[in-house]
Amino acid sequence: MPQAKLRPLIAGNWKMNGTKASLGEIWEMSRSLRGLEKGHCDTLLCPPSTLITAAAALADRMPQIGAQDCHAEPAGAHTGDLSAAMLADAGASAIILGHSERRAGHGESNTDIARKAVATWDAGLVALICVGETLAQRNAGEAVAVVHEQLAGSIPDGATASNSVIAYEPVWAIGTGQTPTLEQIAEIHGAIRAALLSRFGTEGAGMRILYGGSVKPANAREILALEHVNGALVGGASLKATDFLAIVDACG
Ligand code: PGA
Repeated sequence: MPQAKLRPLIAGNWKMNGTKASLGEIWEMSRSLRGLEKGHCDTLLCPPSTLITAAAALADRMPQIGAQDCHAEPAGAHTGDLSAAMLADAGASAIILGHSERRAGHGESNTDIARKAVATWDAGLVALICVGETLAQRNAGEAVAVVHEQLAGSIPDGATASNSVIAYEPVWAIGTGQTPTLEQIAEIHGAIRAALLSRFGTEGAGMRILYGGSVKPANAREILALEHVNGALVGGASLKATDFLAIVDACG
């Protein structure tokens, strides 16, 4: 079904990178974003939690600042964890959930991710829910099925176009410099849109679907031009303001 163009979102994920010395990059991003025409896309940067407060003060919502994970409970005896409400208090407006590095490295299940999404909404924040197949799953012809299962299990009922963003990140493309073909990206994004439409109706039509995995200035424009690609989730290339800003430019 052809649909209205959604306002793109370019999101950066710094992962476990960055100290106070890196705030200059965020300052530079913010300064340049303010100079651009405001209209063409939304921007979000997710630094490590230690930098959220300083980054949010510095950026003043341009880019918006987000977090990379949260606990599913609002408070309690969970040493080392952070609740969505704490991240909101620090200045986050969105939380990345179910990144493959957390699914693999921390054993997060679809059910865990769905619980965290509800906690994220309860704190008034946007849930950026990641899905994506491994290379073995793709080679076995299971990519669409795996993504469908992750969508069904990780997105709770109650998802709307304004409280949720989906990111398709094939595990084998993350940090490897390898990207799927445009046809492969288009196929999965089309399948995700169809699944969102059938489950959430018009809210599913309005939910943004980001592509993530080795997005860089050199390949961003062609990926962002695909139907049902409504932005990008950028890891390595979001660490430098110049690269992040070039990707923002590419969605214009
Ligand atoms: P990458 O990471 O851009 O470094 O491949 C993307 C991600 O993990 O979100």
